[in-house]
Amino acid sequence: MHIPVSGFSKKSKQEKIEWLVHNYFNDNEDALKTLEQYWNSDTGLQELHDDFTENAISNYYLPFGVAPNFLINDRLYTIPMVIEESSVIAAASNAAKFWLNRGGFKTEVISTAKNGQVHIDYFGKKESIFNFFTQVKPALIASIDDIQKNMKARGGGLVDIELIDSTHTLPGYYQLHCNFETLDAMGANFINSCLEEIAITFEQKATAYSEFSETAPKVVLSILSNYVPECLVRASVSCNVEELTENGTDGETFARDYVRAVDIAHTEIRRAVTHNKGIMNGIDAVVLATGNDFRAVEAGIHAYAARDGRYTSLTKAKVENGVFSFSIEIPLALGTIGGLTNLHPLVKFAMQLLQNPSARELMGIVAVAGLAQNFAAIRSLVTTGIQKGHMKMHLMNILNQLEATSEEKEKAIQHFTKNTVTHSAAVEFIEKLRS
Ligand code: MEV
Repeated sequence: MHIPVSGFSKKSKQEKIEWLVHNYFNDNEDALKTLEQYWNSDTGLQELHDDFTENAISNYYLPFGVAPNFLINDRLYTIPMVIEESSVIAAASNAAKFWLNRGGFKTEVISTAKNGQVHIDYFGKKESIFNFFTQVKPALIASIDDIQKNMKARGGGLVDIELIDSTHTLPGYYQLHCNFETLDAMGANFINSCLEEIAITFEQKATAYSEFSETAPKVVLSILSNYVPECLVRASVSCNVEELTENGTDGETFARDYVRAVDIAHTEIRRAVTHNKGIMNGIDAVVLATGNDFRAVEAGIHAYAARDGRYTSLTKAKVENGVFSFSIEIPLALGTIGGLTNLHPLVKFAMQLLQNPSARELMGIVAVAGLAQNFAAIRSLVTTGIQKGHMKMHLMNILNQLEATSEEKEKAIQHFTKNTVTHSAAVEFIEKLRS
């Protein structure tokens, strides 16, 4: 039976680990060693990582890989990807190579507005709150002068505040809906600071407003929204159907099966979720490598996929006049300055590798990673099936589980170039080698 701990966050790293090892690992030294083996010998770098989060006790490694040959808007990129799923980077690289000789990827940023809300309770006369809002709006904007000084000087800041009557969705519910332009910053801290200041001013002014008397509006909470359908990017590829002919696959048949597969993801939620999961394999990997908030991106994109009240595919495919085209449209609130981007050495490396993109350029690159991933998945699914490539890449994980030596690995890789990889086949092969 474990007992609760108080003041845990105040303990030193060593004390926290001792407490954990004692309470959950029966003082087994192996647990300590597991944590220690991931510490960085460069104490400065280790301290930097420890400071990213409360109660840090070790580092959790994920592979940082790269996918070369991405031609995006006529510029070549090698895309950094942080991902543990063995086949993702191979698939991205294949898709990049495929489109390299067919005109590459095109991207277009449709809009870049971010938003946040001050959520309000108000049970008085509708007219009064709207009159009040019109009167205090300049004061609400003035209250964030200091916060947005630098952002404004760079050409961004608060775009507008609107009072929205949401009482048809929830009795007494109103919102101050605020739109922002945050340029190259993801802007979460900036937006939240602005909203909290606006909320304070709103409540202060409301207490002094005579029309409200006992029914003054009350702020429930203020926070940015991770739903950003006004921060949209599009990425696409296209080529003549004949150009899809490859390795014995007829272009016309391929295009027809491909479009059908995407159409199925449009109509069937069970397929749409997996289809979009494959897209997120590419998107999350680049978002992570560039130090952006993958949870925000995930939440926003899936909500967008369900914007018409039905969850559907994020990509579209069609053949028109002999031309195959495939595209994605997604909301992405990303930053290339601030947050981890200035702090994490690997994030800085990733940004440099991407030729120090602006947030708009990064939106395009991330959308391309999603589109490429989806292209690779559908291409396999409608031709060979996914398992052939997947299990080939997964073979190394199985061999590592079996603690195979380098020599055994080499022999296994050789063997499985001509044989189907399954977990049991790999076990059997290694056992035979060892007997
Ligand atoms: C696996 O991580 C992703 C796929 O399932 C995506 C898809 O089915 O489209 C292969």
